[in-house]
Amino acid sequence: MNQTWVQIAYLVAAVCFILALKGLSSPKYARRGNLIGAFGAVLAVVVTLVAEPLDHMVLILVAIVIGSAFGVPAARSVAMTAMPQLVALFNGVGGAAAAIVAIVEFLSSGQNESTGTLAASVFTVLVGSVSFSGSVVTFLKLQGLITSRPVVFPGMQVLLPLTAVAALVLGVLVLTTTSTAIVFALAAVSLLLGVLFVLPVGGADVPIVISLLNAFTGLTVAASGFVLDNVLLLVAGTLVGASGTLLTRLMAQAMGRPLLGTLFGAFSGESTLGGGQASERPVKSLGPADVAVMLAYAERVVIVPGYGLAVAQAQGALKELVDLLGERGVEVSYGIHPVAGRMPGHMNVLLAEASVPYEQLKEMDEINPDLPSTDVALVVGANDVVNPAARNPGTPISGMPIINVDQAQAVVFLKRSMRPGFAGIDNELLYDAKTQLLFGDAKDSLTKTVTALKSL
Ligand code: TAP
Repeated sequence: MNQTWVQIAYLVAAVCFILALKGLSSPKYARRGNLIGAFGAVLAVVVTLVAEPLDHMVLILVAIVIGSAFGVPAARSVAMTAMPQLVALFNGVGGAAAAIVAIVEFLSSGQNESTGTLAASVFTVLVGSVSFSGSVVTFLKLQGLITSRPVVFPGMQVLLPLTAVAALVLGVLVLTTTSTAIVFALAAVSLLLGVLFVLPVGGADVPIVISLLNAFTGLTVAASGFVLDNVLLLVAGTLVGASGTLLTRLMAQAMGRPLLGTLFGAFSGESTLGGGQASERPVKSLGPADVAVMLAYAERVVIVPGYGLAVAQAQGALKELVDLLGERGVEVSYGIHPVAGRMPGHMNVLLAEASVPYEQLKEMDEINPDLPSTDVALVVGANDVVNPAARNPGTPISGMPIINVDQAQAVVFLKRSMRPGFAGIDNELLYDAKTQLLFGDAKDSLTKTVTALKSL
């Protein structure tokens, strides 16, 4: 293929990526944005395979077949609630791929490369490895295979900076000696750095780390574009790096804390505190018929959905309840916390699936002033995002803004047990005099409440 056509095809792919990001920034156009991005990626891969002089074509095709054999079924069958884990894994694999490409490139022509290209390789190996191992730890936390609470062990405060310094020193040594052994040592130390970097991040701060690692992977892809002299990789990586950085900043702002505090707060002892276990104290429970009466005779109801709504797949039942209340003249809105659920925009996507009108969704800052004049706050499968412990110092969610459901006249929680949320801390509001709990799976509870409401 003529080089001009190749460059034009790359330009079209780059434009597709930009349009994809634009589309993904609004729920209305997200699906279309995704398709445009996927088209750009397929175009880029096909043009690269057809036009670039590639060695080992058979091996590349075998790798594509193996990758697709794992990736396609995993992506098709993943439950909505397990999506963040899958994204963390895909992100980690991207970082690892960039690091491996840089190592292979170094092994084949490292001695002859310019210092600029070598520096880009070092950056790719270091940050790509951090992104890979950090993403694996994030996956383990999200999957519940290790605790989601901050993990800090004695000496970690010293080990983490030492490992970071060791990685930087090894990077400089690679540049000055071009030794193969040192490149592998750099990769190993960087893998350890990724683990040490993510372990101390606890519960509620995991989303921020996911988007930070995403930005890291984007930057490594951009750097490998530099190493491989491929403009499209440079553009695509820069887009991912820039959008990931912006998302990280926005998430940190939404959580009301500086990024460094989020990442290293556990070392000051801050994030290691907190209850962890469900308390034995008594709570007030009620049945679906009681909830139906409370809601039916309220003037204003605020619904705060959380991760449990996604687990129970109760969005359809919730919408039916809200529609029935609307017919009775009750004013109902949804309060959406920026980190409710397990991925950015999780609640918006879930409620959009059930065709909840967008106007009913109110962001945290918009809904909070309404709560003092709200009769009932119905918390459906949410916990951390309404936990007043965020207002006290020394907990894993300290400083995180919450939806102030405790200011409503009455609070009803729909949950299955007294277990804490993702951050692993007890919620005092569950024991408050104005709070009542409807225990059970949210879909089941909502369906029974709807039936009770219909019979009123
Ligand atoms: P959580 O604090 O995790 O609370 C979820 C609640 O849902 C729990 O109280 C759980 O109690 C209940 N639940 C689970 N399954 C249920 C079911 N089938 N039926 C009824 N209730 C059910 O959720 P949240 O308030 O949405 O907060 C999100 C947390 O995840 C924050 O800490 C956030 O930082 C973190 N996080 C967020 C993201 C993003 S980007 N959104 C990414 C990673 C982590 P039971 O077990 O007793 O039912």
